[in-house]
Amino acid sequence: MIVSPSLLAADFARLGEQCEMVNDSNADWFHVDVMDGVFVPNISFGSPVIKSIKKVARKPLDVHLMIVDPQRYISMFRDLGADILNVHYEACTHLHRTIQQIRDAGMRPAVTLNPHTPVSVLEEILPDVDMVLLMSVNPGFGGQKFIHNTYDKIRRLRKMIDERHLNTIIEIDGGVDNNTAPLAAQAGATAMVAGSYVFGDKDPKARIAELKSLKQ
Ligand code: DX5
Ligand code: ZN
Repeated sequence: MIVSPSLLAADFARLGEQCEMVNDSNADWFHVDVMDGVFVPNISFGSPVIKSIKKVARKPLDVHLMIVDPQRYISMFRDLGADILNVHYEACTHLHRTIQQIRDAGMRPAVTLNPHTPVSVLEEILPDVDMVLLMSVNPGFGGQKFIHNTYDKIRRLRKMIDERHLNTIIEIDGGVDNNTAPLAAQAGATAMVAGSYVFGDKDPKARIAELKSLKQ
């Protein structure tokens, strides 16, 4: 299981320390949530904060753009050091072009689906992306309840990927904890984002290790 702790739930007054915790844990990536207050009803953080994270992070940055017109910022996020760039299907009119531009810029492209968007819309784009990020909550806030329909959605996506003999990563974001993560893993997810479950615990490294040990 790939584990990507979401810094949205970190204490920003101690961001360096929290990044070191992730460095020292067996997490795989840093999940970096960028919100513009337009695509989602919340604003998180932007370039200056990401620049500081990149300076200390010793693991790849899994950047999740919850912004309108993400294609306008591809080179900016490349320059900031994003390794994986997640764009929302709902925010991209020319998704194919955007995905190509992300790859051409040297990053790994990923497409994200809101809870209401069916996985069937991925039929044509699936071979072009390295990862599909399924939102298991409505994006915009940490600490929300996992939407149970996501398990079926994961199964349908797993089937699409296997039928095409692809090795696309299925990442789940929102409400991931010790109850929901094992079920999501069983359904076929291969990566977990976790915010409040990790940073809200007094032993965040143990929570990361627990998610890391999940088997499909
Ligand atoms: C929500 C963000 C998530 C968020 C998850 O819009 O995309 O990455 O940090 O938080 P938890 O794990 O607390 O649901
Ligand atoms: Zn996210």
